[in-house]
Amino acid sequence: MSALNIWGTLVLVIYLELVCGYVSPIAIHGKQFIDSITGEPFFIKGVDYQPGGSSEVTEDNDPLSDSAICARDIVLFQDLGINTIRIYSLNPDLNHDKCMSMLAVAGIYVILDVNSPLQNQHLNRYEPWTTYNPVYLEHIFKLVEQFSYYNNTLGFFAGNEVINDKISAQISPPYVKNVIGDMKTYIKTHSPRVVPVGYSAADDLNYRIPLSSYLECAEEQSASLSVDFYGVNSYQWCGRQTMQTSGYDQLVDAYKNYTKPVFFSEFGCNKVLPRTFDEVQALFSENMFTTFSGGLVYEFSQEDNGYGLVEINSNGTVKVLDDFDSLKKHYKTIRLPNSDQISSAIAEDRKISQQAYRDETPSCQATYENLNTNAKVTKGLASSLVKAGVEVEKGQYVDLTQNDLRCTLEIVDNKGITWQGDTEVKTVRDLKPYLANPKHLKNDKQRKNVGSTAKISLWPSLFFILLTSMIQMV
Ligand SMILES: *[C@@H]1O[C@H](CO)[C@@H](O)[C@H](O)[C@H]1NC(C)=O
Ligand SMILES: *[C@@H]1O[C@H](CO)[C@@H](O)[C@H](O)[C@H]1NC(C)=O
Ligand SMILES: *[C@@H]1O[C@H](CO)[C@@H](O)[C@H](O)[C@H]1NC(C)=O
Repeated sequence: MSALNIWGTLVLVIYLELVCGYVSPIAIHGKQFIDSITGEPFFIKGVDYQPGGSSEVTEDNDPLSDSAICARDIVLFQDLGINTIRIYSLNPDLNHDKCMSMLAVAGIYVILDVNSPLQNQHLNRYEPWTTYNPVYLEHIFKLVEQFSYYNNTLGFFAGNEVINDKISAQISPPYVKNVIGDMKTYIKTHSPRVVPVGYSAADDLNYRIPLSSYLECAEEQSASLSVDFYGVNSYQWCGRQTMQTSGYDQLVDAYKNYTKPVFFSEFGCNKVLPRTFDEVQALFSENMFTTFSGGLVYEFSQEDNGYGLVEINSNGTVKVLDDFDSLKKHYKTIRLPNSDQISSAIAEDRKISQQAYRDETPSCQATYENLNTNAKVTKGLASSLVKAGVEVEKGQYVDLTQNDLRCTLEIVDNKGITWQGDTEVKTVRDLKPYLANPKHLKNDKQRKNVGSTAKISLWPSLFFILLTSMIQMV
């Protein structure tokens, strides 16, 4: 074994141990998501997840309230090769600890929309002043409060397609921006870390550039009103396409200068069947990865609109559909770009286009095409709630047994035959060092202690490797 190999092995082992010992929060660096512990870029490779649609959120049920269902679906997520899910609606009064812990050990992050179709839980896009009220704000703050305690919460969407036609574009933009600002203020005041807040946009050419620019910009006095990331719902690549025929090249042009991370918050046109998901190759190619940080396929479960990857029966059994296998072929084999590839692609881009890249959040313009941004939003509506904080159970990881991680519900393939895949959630992140110190949530000092115990546990394995390498050299 050469000296180089020894060092290679050492580095690899240190790396693996560090990654396994932590659930790393995702942070934002310029227009890139990064793993806040390794510093490596993070690309979203995911699906949208809301079995039964948003109306399935009730007083005692939501997509993360039943751990048997979570085990079933996480087994499938891992088989599909994803690292992120987006959830559209949850009930903050339910406990989500078990499902979030299971997702965390499986290495899967969650992007959470804070709205629901229920009354007082979303903005009315045509009369936002009737719905932007303390009851609404309490709902969204509860989700923020609870979920910012989980390291695998990647971010929050303040809104989804609120602006989607001429009327909403005349009325709603300042409301959306205020909700973003309120959430960011709440997070700054109460959350254990800065969880990013974004918006998910309908990809309408009339608003593509003006809305993203409006939500990106910051007045000097209220910098916290700008989005931290931007999601685009895009269904323009249908069947066999190229960057040019699909119009993806135009999308890249539109967002190339954006100073925040941008990704597809929904993609996967179903106008041409079966879906082959070739756009995944484009999304993670050099043409796109300097501008887009990946994306989420719409959607995991089959609903009336026919975008599903699996069919969920009312008795809890699941049938894996052809689209699941088509998407898996791409997701399982695609190589996500590393930091070197990104740096050199950006350098190359700049050479060719000679574009001046802005790194700083731009200041706001007086007007934005096709939008009215002048509506007066009642000021200070959130301030007493922000000051007092909302009452809700804070999220906390819990110990999981092998039984928790086993899928007990039947999964069948598209021919109805028992599924051949793994039926147990594979553990890729270890919560043990964290749970071993039950006081970790109390303050920062104790959180740091958790970190150092995890690091100390490296030494035995380092020693072992050194020893074995030395024996081999002799
Ligand atoms: C969550 O992230 C913090 C760093 O921000 C880290 O100290 C802590 O150990 C992490 N928790 C887990 C369970 O990995
Ligand atoms: C991006 O910046 C370049 C150079 O500053 C400019 O020519 C181009 O119009 C900008 N694109 C958008 C979509 O704003
Ligand atoms: C569950 O429901 C599906 C569809 O109705 C059916 O084919 C399957 O046999 C049922 N499985 C069980 C275990 O009840």
